[in-house]
Amino acid sequence: MGALAFAVYLCLVALQLSSYSSSVGALSTIYYDKSCPQLEFLVRNAVKKAMLKDKTVPAALLRMHFHDCFIRGCDGSVLLNSTAKNSAEKDGPANISLHAFYVIDNAKKAIEAVCPGTVSCADILALAARDAVALSGGPTWEVPKGRLDGRVSKAIDTRQLPAPTFNLSQLQQSFSQRGLSLDDLVALSGGHTLGFAHCSSFQNRIHNFGGAVKVNDVDPTLSPSFAARLQSVCPAHNTVKNAGSNLDSTATLFDNAYYKMLLQGMSIFSSDQALLDSPRTKALVSKFAASKEAFEMAFVESMVKMGNLPGGQEIRLNCRVVR
Ligand code: HEM
Ligand SMILES: *[C@@H]1O[C@H](CO)[C@@H](O)[C@H](O)[C@H]1NC(C)=O
Ligand SMILES: *[C@@H]1O[C@H](CO)[C@@H](O)[C@H](O)[C@H]1NC(C)=O
Ligand SMILES: *[C@@H]1O[C@H](CO)[C@@H](O)[C@H](O)[C@H]1NC(C)=O
Repeated sequence: MGALAFAVYLCLVALQLSSYSSSVGALSTIYYDKSCPQLEFLVRNAVKKAMLKDKTVPAALLRMHFHDCFIRGCDGSVLLNSTAKNSAEKDGPANISLHAFYVIDNAKKAIEAVCPGTVSCADILALAARDAVALSGGPTWEVPKGRLDGRVSKAIDTRQLPAPTFNLSQLQQSFSQRGLSLDDLVALSGGHTLGFAHCSSFQNRIHNFGGAVKVNDVDPTLSPSFAARLQSVCPAHNTVKNAGSNLDSTATLFDNAYYKMLLQGMSIFSSDQALLDSPRTKALVSKFAASKEAFEMAFVESMVKMGNLPGGQEIRLNCRVVR
């Protein structure tokens, strides 16, 4: 074989190997159609049942999936309990407000009863997040499946999550490290159409905003009346345990009010406000504020993209413990 022919041969082998390894990890919407046809019904049922008793469940499930995907890929690592030797993600500093893990447990139990050892906890969480959105008046979509569960969950890794004090370039970096674009950032931030934030998450905007410089006590990008309202529920030395604010005016409805409020100086986090800091992201905020349909289309596309972040190597039997 000549040198050139050999080089071409090597390239072909390399190509084949790379397409092989990427197709092994590829998710599919029909992944469990044969092995667990009841799956989607059972997850939806668990989410529906929990929502009837607790309106905070959908927001919790959506955020849980986001945290799962941003740390070690969508591998159910957020679901693991701490052990005697290991402090897990859910006990990390960014765990504030993570709850409703029992919904995933209930779904898993129902699924194990009909298709034992077949469906990953990471897939159950991805489906539950989709159902949470759909059952709150948002869009629905086909969730690609076939994720595997990870065996590692470390509290300290939650430091890798974007912070609510992040500026646009920090947010952009956090997302791009995970293959997500500025457009994904704007669309996925729309997840803040659901749910609640504790005072500590936006304290930086309403007290001593300038820090040492002390130019302003309050973030000047906030509408003054909105800031006053936030200050009244969150005084500088807040002692009320679960004080805070809803993330938009319709916190149990998946709509585009988040973007409308953002344009009016009524966002909760600095990281929300930061979306107005570049022409590209600001134009998207305006587009989504004007059209719920445009938001929904972009949100679905970005959720599927975020949900593709790879990780994991097993199918857990109990979502809180490794096998
Ligand atoms: C862009 C970077 C993001 C930052 C900095 C961020 C930060 C936060 C913070 C600080 C909270 C409130 C925690 C608390 O005080 O209790 C929160 C809540 C929430 N986040 Fe985000 N988030 C981001 C992106 C996302 C994404 C991508 C989603 C989902 C698509 C999402 C969905 C939610 C939901 C639903 C809640 C409410 C949770 C509840 O009420 O239980 N966030 N976020
Ligand atoms: C996981 O932790 C929760 C809360 O501490 C506890 O109620 C539950 O029994 C634990 N589950 C397992 C399987 O360890
Ligand atoms: C969050 O972490 C703290 C310790 O940092 C722990 O006491 C608390 O139970 C955790 N919350 C949840 C929901 O796991
Ligand atoms: C964003 O924050 C980082 C870290 O604090 C800082 O280095 C950077 O200059 C900030 N960028 C902008 C555009 O403010």
